[in-house]
Amino acid sequence: MNYNKLMRKCFNLAKRGKTSPNPMVGCVVLNSLGEIISEGYHKRCGEAHAERDALLKLKNGEEKDGTLIVNLEPCNHYGKTPPCSDLIVERGIKRVVISNTDPNPKAAGGIKKLKNAGIEVITGVLEKEGLKLNEVFFTNIIKKRPFFVIKTASTLDGKISTCKGDSKWITSAKARDYAHKLRQKYDCILTSSSTVIADNPTMKHKTKIIIDRQLKTDFNSEIYKNGKCYIVSEKTFEHPNIERIEYTDLISLSENLYKMGIMSVFVEAGGKLCGSFLKAGLADRIYNFIAPKILNDNTGKSSFDGENVIKIADAKTFATDNVKQLGNDVLIELIPMPY
Ligand SMILES: NC(=O)c1ccc[n+]([C@@H]2O[C@H](COP(=O)([O-])OP(=O)(O)OC[C@H]3O[C@@H](n4cnc5c(N)ncnc54)[C@H](OP(=O)(O)O)[C@@H]3O)[C@@H](O)[C@H]2O)c1
Repeated sequence: MNYNKLMRKCFNLAKRGKTSPNPMVGCVVLNSLGEIISEGYHKRCGEAHAERDALLKLKNGEEKDGTLIVNLEPCNHYGKTPPCSDLIVERGIKRVVISNTDPNPKAAGGIKKLKNAGIEVITGVLEKEGLKLNEVFFTNIIKKRPFFVIKTASTLDGKISTCKGDSKWITSAKARDYAHKLRQKYDCILTSSSTVIADNPTMKHKTKIIIDRQLKTDFNSEIYKNGKCYIVSEKTFEHPNIERIEYTDLISLSENLYKMGIMSVFVEAGGKLCGSFLKAGLADRIYNFIAPKILNDNTGKSSFDGENVIKIADAKTFATDNVKQLGNDVLIELIPMPY
């Protein structure tokens, strides 16, 4: 049997959850005749896992000798809920179909438990799509840091402002609205002192982080007027609504954010900061909005600043994950290679 269609159903169920810092997981249960008899998904961290959600809806044992399809290896540990692997064994499921194995050492071991109980286990179904669905979770567990997204909007010649710093607007309202929606998918936005000083942006989000090592920004700037705000600085300060995060370097900052429970960061800044994140290896997904405009100018700012590079072979090379046209603009999504 080809399980791709049912695994896609699991992905769509999974997307309904707001599960951070947990993964998004969906589950479909078939009876012994191969008919769908239940569905479930993980709704929130601390609530039932997808397998439990789907199985507990079944009261009459109709899942006996059936198949359970789930996008992540069933957990095998007592966390906020008991192990799903035990419940699957108890319910007499005959076959389990999985997209991704669980890289979390605390939760892994589910496949082994199922196999030891005589259950057939099929893994790797739509594995790449599964990895993409939970790219934040997999990065968190494997790299022990947040998932970093860099958003930039540039002309076709890679410029984000003119030689005089004019930057409004490069892309269309349609592209900017799309970018505003994208921000909300991530735990926080992060920008720089220079961008706050140059643009005085509002950047609506529940959590905002501003890198301002020397405290150059005005605390009355629009960005500090809503949401929970943090300033990453070398200097100390007192403010009733703004908290300080100590700055040492970007890698230590990423580790601190992870310890604070921030699992994903949407970086929206100029070329100096975006270039620094790129150089530090903190670019897990890049959203590059490109307007069909050519500035034809050699001193305007670029999306990613850096040092002089001699060879094209030394370029940071990404894989194109998605291309989307938004009105007259184009959005290219890049992910590191190999994926
Ligand atoms: N088109 C777009 O997508 C977009 C988005 C945002 C902004 N912009 C434009 O970008 C322009 C500003 O660009 P920019 O290149 O001058 O500035 P930027 O990249 O926004 O910010 C530079 C600042 O970031 C901090 N920074 C840079 N590297 C760092 C590192 N390794 N560690 C810690 N902090 C670091 C420093 O701030 P401190 O020294 O103060 O700590 C530095 O002065 C503005 O005109 C704005 O309009 C465009």
